[in-house]
Amino acid sequence: MEEALTMARLAAADGTGTIVATPHALHSRFRPEQEAVAEAFNRLSAALAENRIPLRLQQAAEVSFAPDLRTQLEAHPELTVNGQGRYVLTELPFVGYPTYVTEVCFDLLLHGIVPIIAHPERSQHLQQHPHLLYELVAQGVMVQVNAGSLLGQFGPEAEAAARLFVRHRMVHLLGSDAHNSQKRPPVLQEAASVVAELGGEELARNVTVLWPGDILAGIYVQVAEPIPIKYHGPIRSSGRPVGLWQRIKARWGANASSGG
Ligand SMILES: [Fe+2]
Repeated sequence: MEEALTMARLAAADGTGTIVATPHALHSRFRPEQEAVAEAFNRLSAALAENRIPLRLQQAAEVSFAPDLRTQLEAHPELTVNGQGRYVLTELPFVGYPTYVTEVCFDLLLHGIVPIIAHPERSQHLQQHPHLLYELVAQGVMVQVNAGSLLGQFGPEAEAAARLFVRHRMVHLLGSDAHNSQKRPPVLQEAASVVAELGGEELARNVTVLWPGDILAGIYVQVAEPIPIKYHGPIRSSGRPVGLWQRIKARWGANASSGG
């Protein structure tokens, strides 16, 4: 509780008015009981009021992507944002890329549930093939990048991908992905200024205030058309394809580190 309150004070001091708590769900390793999550949520909400911390707490989850995601969400609407059944924050694997991503996203959209992909800039596959994310966004999928990615905290590849996604208007939300008060704190301001630098002040405001507000209200957001990525390979954050030599080096490096 002490750590949670420290985090809440950090967020409030950074200008955050509402925090959406997104514990993992349907995850292979982290699977908290929903009852325990609800109980912790209520306890923390009460503690915020008691300690006069000006922060609203709302509930959602970071749901692991799965072939049966839609039926899982219909059985557990509490995993969607505010339990409204309209938006779901979902996480793709960091390594590899499931064959059913497009199909599952399309199925969710058809049923009125908008998938919000959590930190796609951290997926190795999407770093190498950003056009795949463009195709999802063009279909109506939304994207949340981590504030820390834009600041280089998840490595140069994630940083470059996050910047590319912002430039191509493929980013709709900025997430703190906060885990604690020290290494992964709940702050957004610094990253929001990077968004402003890359995509303009209006976009920075949209991804931190306007669109998250609509999502929490259960309103379907009208976002700008993304700028197409047509090239089917890795792209620099400047928008130019990565050179052949760098691609060979990256491939060789990946093979070397995986021991094969
Ligand atoms: Fe995540």
